[in-house]
Amino acid sequence: MKKVYIGMSADLLHPGHLNIIKEARKIAGEAGEIIVGLLTDKAVASYKRLPYMTYEQRKIVIENVKGVTQVIPQETLDYVPNLKKLKPDYVLHGDDWKEGIQAQTRQRVIEAMKEWGGKVIDIPYTKGISSTQLNKVLREIGITPEIRCSRLRRLLASKDIVKICEAHNGLSGLIVENTSVVKDNKKYEFDGIWISSLTQSTAKAKPDIGYLDTTSRLDTINDILDVTTKSIIYDGDNGGPQEHFIFTVKSLERLGVSAIIIEDKTGLKKNSLFGTEVEQEQENKEVFSQKIRAGKLAQITEQFMIIARIESFILGKGLDDAIERAKAYLEAGADGIMIHSCSKAFNEIKAFAQEYNKLENRKPLVVVPSSYSQVTEEELAKNGINMVIYANHLLRAAYPAMVNAAKSILETHSCQKASDEYCMKIKDILTLIPGAK
Ligand code: SPV
Ligand code: MG
Repeated sequence: MKKVYIGMSADLLHPGHLNIIKEARKIAGEAGEIIVGLLTDKAVASYKRLPYMTYEQRKIVIENVKGVTQVIPQETLDYVPNLKKLKPDYVLHGDDWKEGIQAQTRQRVIEAMKEWGGKVIDIPYTKGISSTQLNKVLREIGITPEIRCSRLRRLLASKDIVKICEAHNGLSGLIVENTSVVKDNKKYEFDGIWISSLTQSTAKAKPDIGYLDTTSRLDTINDILDVTTKSIIYDGDNGGPQEHFIFTVKSLERLGVSAIIIEDKTGLKKNSLFGTEVEQEQENKEVFSQKIRAGKLAQITEQFMIIARIESFILGKGLDDAIERAKAYLEAGADGIMIHSCSKAFNEIKAFAQEYNKLENRKPLVVVPSSYSQVTEEELAKNGINMVIYANHLLRAAYPAMVNAAKSILETHSCQKASDEYCMKIKDILTLIPGAK
């Protein structure tokens, strides 16, 4: 009676995975046990992208594979907690884990198994197929609106802090989709895309005063939807009149956008980061709550989120006002709260988070650290903040780069310096977007 343990995420099951289970069958024998420790969303999200399928979907697939006798959750990337409970005779894994991100995990498994005389067997990697390849193909195929829309709730449930970055056209959407960094054996990437009213207006050389109409804004979203698979969060300004807001909610939900954030302001829209430099008026708490209720009634699925943005700090009001409003908006059905501040210090937001976290019906808390940019994600997460939005950085980076190239041409009466020093290679731009050749 041999007991074999296999840890896997079983998202895109391919012959490589099945080969490991086949080898496990040989080792366990007829009467043996093959236990799959199925990595939870949280465990996977701790070191790479969230799986395509939910835990429940992946469980249905793996528990129906020949030879698998039991599927249990593996809550961390670390196998040791499950291994200590089960004390298996063998752990099987593809030999690709000898190197890179998982090498440390393997070492810990070897050490733990020694305690009861268990062994680790590395199964030679199946050539010609890999999850990385399948992931690439899947991204090229795209994603359905339903899956995209529901991803944000899954991310919030499985990550310490969800990271969102601004995009204002298809190209910047591609950057948010594809940019990743490997550091300390972990892969870091953005979880989703912020459709900012500021950068979308600025990219069209319009002031951020609510001048762009919804049709034009949805047009940009369509360009982004075409080339990305990540969650999208829409900056809805104040949502407009309630009668308009319910149409916007339905349109966004139909497209697969995960959430809209609406701010509790009224009158001519001015960007919040002006603070009290400009005239801005906060909406009556009850009127705004009513708008949230109407939006929640208008949405069709359970997945779409309406997040209420509180502008009390922006308008020079205090913590008490902000908390009173948070209570009212949660009561009205808001799926999350965004608290904004144009202070250079993190104190204001930190104080709000401390009070907010005490609320029993607390929902995810979102922040936009444009002015207190020194704050780290670790510090935000430590204060119970669930989502950070980097609201304008790609456009702010692009603009000075373009001005530099323009100036260089004017200064040198030639484009050579600009080409050599400020620009990507012609060959690179020709092939940046697949399908050009
Ligand atoms: C935006 O990105 O448009 C926002 C955030 O709403 S802020 O510019 O800080 O108001
Ligand atoms: Mg905005």
